[in-house]
Amino acid sequence: MPIQFDSETGIFQIDTKNTSYQMKVDDKKNLIHTYYGAKIDADDLYKELFMIDRGFSGNPHDVGKYDRTYSLDVLPQEYSCFGTGDYRITGLHVQEDNGARVASLKYEKSEIYEKLLGIPGLPAIYNDTENKCYTLSIFLKDYANGLSVELRYGVIEELDVITRSAIIRNEGTKKVYLLKAASMNLDFQFGDYDFITFYGRHAMERNVSRSEIHHGVQSVGSVRGTSSHHYNPFSIICDKNATEQTGECYGFSFVYSGEFLMEAEKDQADQVRFICGIHPDDFKWVLNPGDEFNTPQVIMSYSDTGLAKLSQNFHHTIADHIVRGEWKHKERPVLINNWEGTFFDFNGDKLYNIAKDAKALGVDMFVMDDGWFGKRDDDNSGLGDWYPNEKKLGCTLKELGDKITGLGMRFGIWFEPEMISEDSDLYRAHPDWALIAPDRAPGLGRNQLVLDMSRDDVCDYILERMSDILSNAPISYVKWDMNRSISDKYSHRLDTEHEGELSHRFVLGVYIILETLHNKFPSVLFEGCSGGGGRFDAGMMYYTPQIWLSDDTDAICRTSIQYGTSFCYPISTVGAHVSVVPNQQAGRISPLSTRAAVAMAGTFGYELDITKMTDEDKESVIKEIKFFKEYYELIHEGNYFRLSTPKDIATAWEMAARDESEALVTVVYHGVEANPAPAHFKVYGLNPDKKYTVKYVGDTENAVEEKYQGHVYTGRTLAKAGITIAPALEEFGSYQLHITSKD
Ligand code: GLA
Repeated sequence: MPIQFDSETGIFQIDTKNTSYQMKVDDKKNLIHTYYGAKIDADDLYKELFMIDRGFSGNPHDVGKYDRTYSLDVLPQEYSCFGTGDYRITGLHVQEDNGARVASLKYEKSEIYEKLLGIPGLPAIYNDTENKCYTLSIFLKDYANGLSVELRYGVIEELDVITRSAIIRNEGTKKVYLLKAASMNLDFQFGDYDFITFYGRHAMERNVSRSEIHHGVQSVGSVRGTSSHHYNPFSIICDKNATEQTGECYGFSFVYSGEFLMEAEKDQADQVRFICGIHPDDFKWVLNPGDEFNTPQVIMSYSDTGLAKLSQNFHHTIADHIVRGEWKHKERPVLINNWEGTFFDFNGDKLYNIAKDAKALGVDMFVMDDGWFGKRDDDNSGLGDWYPNEKKLGCTLKELGDKITGLGMRFGIWFEPEMISEDSDLYRAHPDWALIAPDRAPGLGRNQLVLDMSRDDVCDYILERMSDILSNAPISYVKWDMNRSISDKYSHRLDTEHEGELSHRFVLGVYIILETLHNKFPSVLFEGCSGGGGRFDAGMMYYTPQIWLSDDTDAICRTSIQYGTSFCYPISTVGAHVSVVPNQQAGRISPLSTRAAVAMAGTFGYELDITKMTDEDKESVIKEIKFFKEYYELIHEGNYFRLSTPKDIATAWEMAARDESEALVTVVYHGVEANPAPAHFKVYGLNPDKKYTVKYVGDTENAVEEKYQGHVYTGRTLAKAGITIAPALEEFGSYQLHITSKD
């Protein structure tokens, strides 16, 4: 059993394959955090705590008058509370009905389960694999106001994963307001760390920021209603010297698609505290007697062999324990989407012709993007009117779907369910369904308003419309978009006291619809989207196995976006398409082979008017699709390694088979030079003692000089000495190398 509790010493220890997590209930009944890191024995590390009398770090009443060394201001805790003398960032901030802002949690009891526990209404890891999973629940109690906090630790032993979440119950007799209810608190007593976070903007998401954790508070978060393009709900705390292959690192993925806050503070004693949860700025939850509040879950993992292993732990956790349903490990269709090919300017015939040409090249599915419903010839109107525009299509939706599926293809469709245009029949009928503060003109984003997803009548309408469309046409894919940040937070339904619940209730409403559709249409593949990657989080992946990565389809920008994304999210979740050049967002011209090689590090597809392609390019598309399908299993199920950063001479990445039999390396040069320096990379994840042949494959197979082909090395040599890559033959040229075991 990887979870142990010694009732005599009060020590809890959770062990995974390579890690240990230790806490202790001390003689004051406080739950103290004593260790998280590489696997250790269950020795009592409480003894290593350094307790001295620190001025202005007060002492709880129950430690006794003469002990000035025991202070919650410096002790490492499992779940810190505001108001009892801990002046660092804290996890729980409550206000009692009488106005007092104090919480004090004491250990009550614990329970251990040989399974994972779900969270009502929220996404969370689950298990249908052979991996052994467990849960530890620790119950803490505030005996003054009756608040109970259940701290939950889910364990996936094999993947070195421990999850954190909390359930806060009002077991008292009076109302309590939650002002901050974090999902986790993790205290580090020792060490110098860096904080790695992922920042961005629309069409340039998940750039990597790495900075020293200094004294004070550093944080990333979102108050935009969604997890956002601007900061991703994933972060890493690691050794200052940690690299891809060395050093200690801790990762935190918040399984939530709304407003979040991840904070790190270095305190007066050089300790680091990390807190993650729903953003408290616009959060105030009323907890009446008998009520409970479930916080979303955080997935944590630890590696002492660098960032590559940490990322792989997250990839496998998300692919195996977050993504659900029929499409979990099923080969995803290579799709063609008409958005960048036609934008709003299409009719049924035009779409059918694109589908027909795409089918001839090997594409599996045609996706009709924005513009098929209501009055929608640009992005200023129609959202909410989810009725097919038969006049524009020139036929019914079913007729179009039948024609496309008649080609032997799947048919997919775009929705933006959380939105409403001012110029729409829905808005004219239900102005109070939009988020608009009384007596104010609402802020616009893309000239649209946001629906109040906290309302059940709004959710019912969306469910009815989507179910009707999905039931009456042969649709096997839905792209679920969300194209603005939320402002003007006011629900016409909630009373004043409950308005502070709106942001979280909005997310819960979205999840209810997604969950209902997931169950009602199990064969439909859902792809998430929010202006590209504005809601690229593990919460959405519970409902949408893939998410459109970015509205920037330029191959070179994408190498950077995909690099940042890869720290947490597996390739199977990354929506990636080949588009035309010059690229419509960046203006860059890159070779078709490079655009394909980059899109293959994702779900793979095309987003252009294929009827306008030259015959030569069409030949390449046929080869690219064939290539992708041949390597599908390796690409989508293997172990992912970043071999460079996007700032190097080339961006390179690798997928290595989990059985170490083969690997596929992709190298994308950032430019061409006369008399160039070579790109050189180490190749990981192979058996040190086996011999492997290195072969250039794909579009560039015949282009490289003979001297680069067919080298044979052991896995050890590949990992320690590495290989030199043939120089680029053209601007933004790329190579794919297949490395196969000779045995
Ligand atoms: C968003 C999406 C695009 C496309 C448009 C349609 O920007 O990210 O892929 O679907 O909306 O309006």
